[in-house]
Amino acid sequence: MISVSGVSMRYGSKVLFDDVTTTFSAGRRYGLTGPNGAGKSTFMKLLTGELPPQKGTVVRPAKLGVLGQDQFAFDRSRVVDTVVMGNGRLWNALEERELLYAKADLTDADGIRLGELEGIVGEEDGYTAESDAAILLQGLDIPEELHERTMSELQGGQKMRVLLAQALFGSPPALLLDEPTNHLDLDSIHWLVEFFTRYAGTLIVISHDRHFLNAVCTHTADIDYQTIITYTGGYDDMVVAKTQIRSRIESENAQREKKIAQLNDFIARFSAGTRSSQVQSRRKEVERLQTTELARSNIQRPYIKFAMSRPSGRTPLEIKSVAKAHGDLQVVSDFSAIVSRGEKIVLVGRNGAGKTTLLKALLADAPGMPASPADIDEGGVRWGHEVSIGYFAQDHTGAIQNGMTAVDWLHQFDPDASRQEIHGLLGQMLFSGEEGLKPTGALSGGETARLLFCRIMLQKPNLLILDEPTNHLDLESINALNVALQRFEGTVLLVTHDQDLMEEVGTRVWHFAGDGAITDFKGAYEEHSAALA
Ligand SMILES: Nc1ncnc2c1ncn2[C@@H]1O[C@H](COP(=O)(O)OP(=O)(O)OP(=O)(O)O)[C@@H](O)[C@H]1O
Ligand SMILES: [Mg+2]
Repeated sequence: MISVSGVSMRYGSKVLFDDVTTTFSAGRRYGLTGPNGAGKSTFMKLLTGELPPQKGTVVRPAKLGVLGQDQFAFDRSRVVDTVVMGNGRLWNALEERELLYAKADLTDADGIRLGELEGIVGEEDGYTAESDAAILLQGLDIPEELHERTMSELQGGQKMRVLLAQALFGSPPALLLDEPTNHLDLDSIHWLVEFFTRYAGTLIVISHDRHFLNAVCTHTADIDYQTIITYTGGYDDMVVAKTQIRSRIESENAQREKKIAQLNDFIARFSAGTRSSQVQSRRKEVERLQTTELARSNIQRPYIKFAMSRPSGRTPLEIKSVAKAHGDLQVVSDFSAIVSRGEKIVLVGRNGAGKTTLLKALLADAPGMPASPADIDEGGVRWGHEVSIGYFAQDHTGAIQNGMTAVDWLHQFDPDASRQEIHGLLGQMLFSGEEGLKPTGALSGGETARLLFCRIMLQKPNLLILDEPTNHLDLESINALNVALQRFEGTVLLVTHDQDLMEEVGTRVWHFAGDGAITDFKGAYEEHSAALA
């Protein structure tokens, strides 16, 4: 069980949640919901102890299994090591021990320290750590030949399973997972649902995926109205119950505003007259009512619009017999296609089928893009006349430098743009006023994605390459993106596992079978599915 009492967090004038008291019990599976920037990851960090609360206390078991929102964080580590890192105390001791043993001559102090470290390694079952990790990995369908590889070599679904093994390492009584379904295809999500419904400890999971939450959760803790309210049931049950509560809060707010208006009216009428003591007391009352801020819902919709500064030629892209292998795995074999201006192509297929590989190969020597090492083994790519590309990569790590404000980060991509234009764009994407001055390092997953969209909107390209753009986005933002892509007049190459986006945006489908073959279907996704059935 994890219990939270009197916990508050705020940044600047933005209150995330205030005076929250709640418990998370064993055997229950909680969804933690709320729009981008609501404070879900922050709250989870309070639960894990990574971040101290500004007020209040959290009581937690000694061991917790944790999966962070950044699933690329371990890309340089070996797979087994990544799992062992799940036990931080053990991992640190192992690392320090290795450093000491590597020293040419050991001092007495080193010797004493080594003794202590051996003690920790023993206590934490360090001598069987690698084999324990291997058993866990096997159980999660990660074959032995991958255990020694580095994380960056794994595809999305596999990476997720390794991170899950990391969280499960040492059998913790509670699992806390931040957006585990990002980057996963439907089959992997089904697998995860099965897995979670069998988990006996306390499960707390953050997700923007309604279907997933409905399938997994017995309870939903929703962050809104500057507090956290726990509802029984999954996402849909929460929405129904919340609507009732919302109408109550909103009518309370409305009554309060009406009261303030009436008092102000009285003050205006009689302030010059004889009833000064009454006016005085009403002034005080208004002050009191106004200082207790009205709690408003944090659900908001951004406005995404992709304009192009000029159109490309009629044939923005020609692909001729492109082939690409990773080692002995043929990811793309002999693919040719001619892309016409205005086409919206959705790239579909299971995790690891080669969608990102193809995009990176196409981008290797595209106009205005930095040369990338992911080149092509065979064939050629020809970019057409006047093509300008807006690229939204799958991995956001490092895409936005730390240590600056959102405004300054964005402005550097068009120094000629006026400050007003930059603020306008940011406001459209829900960074209004003070929010635009936020340090880039503080941005939430969804805010990072929104800022990356601001950059594309500022650059006004005529060809968009979007690799799983809806990961991290909340429902409102996904909807806004869907509409924007439908209205965009340029060309789109889009990788997504989002059913609505595939169906509503796509005018052509590239289906990756997984064995290197890509079928090119000129028509909407639904027709493509019908043709397969
Ligand atoms: N150090 C900080 N300074 C200022 N603001 C911060 C800081 N840390 C976090 N924030 C802000 O707090 C809010 C909550 O962030 P958090 O990462 O918890 O959101 P989230 O609910 O997980 O969103 P998402 O769905 O996008 O992942 C965001 O608006 C974020 O920018
Ligand atoms: Mg988050």
